[in-house]
Amino acid sequence: MTRHFLDLADAGGDAIAAMLADALDRKQARAGWPKGRADSDAPLAGHTLAMIFEKNSTRTRVSFDMAMRQLGGTTIVMDAGSMQLGRGESIADTARVLSRYVDAIMIRTDDHAKVAEMAHHATVPVINGLTDHSHPCQIMADMLTVLERKAKLAGSTWAWLGDGNNVLHSIIEAGSLLHFDVRIACPDGYDPDAGMLAAARGRLDASSATISVTRDPLEAVAGADVVVTDTWISMGQTQAEAKLAAMMPYQVTPAVMAAAAPDATFLHCLPAHRGEEVVDAVIDGPQSAIWDEAENRLHAQKAVLLWCFGRIG
Ligand code: CP
Ligand code: NVA
Repeated sequence: MTRHFLDLADAGGDAIAAMLADALDRKQARAGWPKGRADSDAPLAGHTLAMIFEKNSTRTRVSFDMAMRQLGGTTIVMDAGSMQLGRGESIADTARVLSRYVDAIMIRTDDHAKVAEMAHHATVPVINGLTDHSHPCQIMADMLTVLERKAKLAGSTWAWLGDGNNVLHSIIEAGSLLHFDVRIACPDGYDPDAGMLAAARGRLDASSATISVTRDPLEAVAGADVVVTDTWISMGQTQAEAKLAAMMPYQVTPAVMAAAAPDATFLHCLPAHRGEEVVDAVIDGPQSAIWDEAENRLHAQKAVLLWCFGRIG
């Protein structure tokens, strides 16, 4: 059975916990090494990952590239516009062809159905590098960052302020799989996807974790261990003044952080729009973990790759 990583639920809570543990071990084992040196076991030597980008990327592109190098493998990075995909070759045919050349495919695109289509036709693992619907690789790094600071995920409380977007969808899924509370504060009309919420809530039976939605940002952050936000305008969306105005009460400010737990951690997947979803005093402040979070994309993506290749879980 080919392992695809389209959403966190594809792996499940136990495998995710194993991936996070492996990521921490590998990160610690290579502390201080040059970044381009392979891990001592070079577990993916001889393997190649192809990456397809239909949207811009800095972190996903570079972290996956360096992840493959550190695992002993190689990458091919392509912008969809310069591929035949960009002039109409189908996702299905692209998947079939790439499967004959490379050992895994990562794709960043708009419609989540395209990633599912790629996985359906590929005979090698397919990884979701962000769609309009979800961003599971990002949340692997976020969980790693919280684990480093709080030592556990289960029982912690994450507060999301702002748009009900792709990053939030993966946090909702993560909470339901790793048993942490997710409190969402978003303006009316910008709620997360109802189907994603229902699926996650359906998984909560076996734990005491909760997922809640409120219009009140201070209610969401009260005592929270993690405060997280993201851009109000995601890639592919047009800048809308009405949306920016609706989001303004959800800006993460020092007053918002003061309502969270005293040792609360601030997360942001980046790129940030300073002065919109977060102010400098928070994103550059002592509770911000954004640079570790960005670095952890690398360590988390190595674990995702190893899981896809059957080396974890
Ligand atoms: N956070 C994130 O996915 O960053 P990029 O868009 O730079 O890849
Ligand atoms: N929600 C953002 C995340 C960027 C990494 C977007 O989709 O543009």
